[in-house]
Amino acid sequence: MPPASSQPPRRQRPLRTPGDPVSPFDAAAADYDGWFEADGKLVFETEVRALEQVLPNLPRPWLEIGSGSGRFTDSLGIDVGIDPSAGLLRLATGRKAGALRGRGEQLPFAEATFGAVFIIVALPFVEWPLSVLRETRRVLQPGGKMVLAEIPRTSPWGQLYDAEGKDGHPIYSIASLRSYPELINVVERGGFGLEKIVSTLVQAPGEVGEVEQPRTGLALGAGFVVLVAGKRGEAE
Ligand SMILES: C[S@@+](CC[C@H](N)C(=O)[O-])C[C@H]1O[C@@H](n2cnc3c(N)ncnc32)[C@H](O)[C@@H]1O
Repeated sequence: MPPASSQPPRRQRPLRTPGDPVSPFDAAAADYDGWFEADGKLVFETEVRALEQVLPNLPRPWLEIGSGSGRFTDSLGIDVGIDPSAGLLRLATGRKAGALRGRGEQLPFAEATFGAVFIIVALPFVEWPLSVLRETRRVLQPGGKMVLAEIPRTSPWGQLYDAEGKDGHPIYSIASLRSYPELINVVERGGFGLEKIVSTLVQAPGEVGEVEQPRTGLALGAGFVVLVAGKRGEAE
């Protein structure tokens, strides 16, 4: 996720019809997406590498909730994304994976459709996180997995975004980042059992000089953690 840009966000031609809700990501979409190829290139590659650790053996098909401009969707080979931001979806149209407009709280899919559901730095932005997790459970097949990637609030990266949010940044001011215990708590309250954790981005903001090797488990200070969880109450 990019830190505040020094450039003012470029406005996007909206893909909305009158009455559609405006996403705070719409106006910042081009800057948000451009960061991944500029200052954020090594961060993105580091995050993709951590996510790649958990891909083997995940059953197909795969859904990403809050897929934004589709960069992770494409890089990870996810089959379909869903996101409410017309501005970000517009940027996703040139990419390989399909993306729908919609919210994680009300997924337009039948139950037991997906083998894995990814939620990558999107849960802090949704209005009703537990409803998103309930929907995730519903659309997962028996034995399916949720892959939740987050920026822990207490990491240097989380602290940076928190501070920018408190300064009124249009995107970070609406993010509710979670500490490590809060992350584990929301996974469990959502009806999931934690099965695996991968951590990365121990390099601090402004000091990322290389693509980092992911570590298994919770690494203190890691700015990006990937939690894999199964539906509780299912046989492993
Ligand atoms: C920080 S971006 C992450 C996007 C993408 N996963 C990535 O990492 O590049 C957060 C995303 O959550 C999406 N979002 C916000 N509210 C949502 C909701 N209720 N359901 C699904 N996605 C939502 C935003 O539109 C935005 O694309």
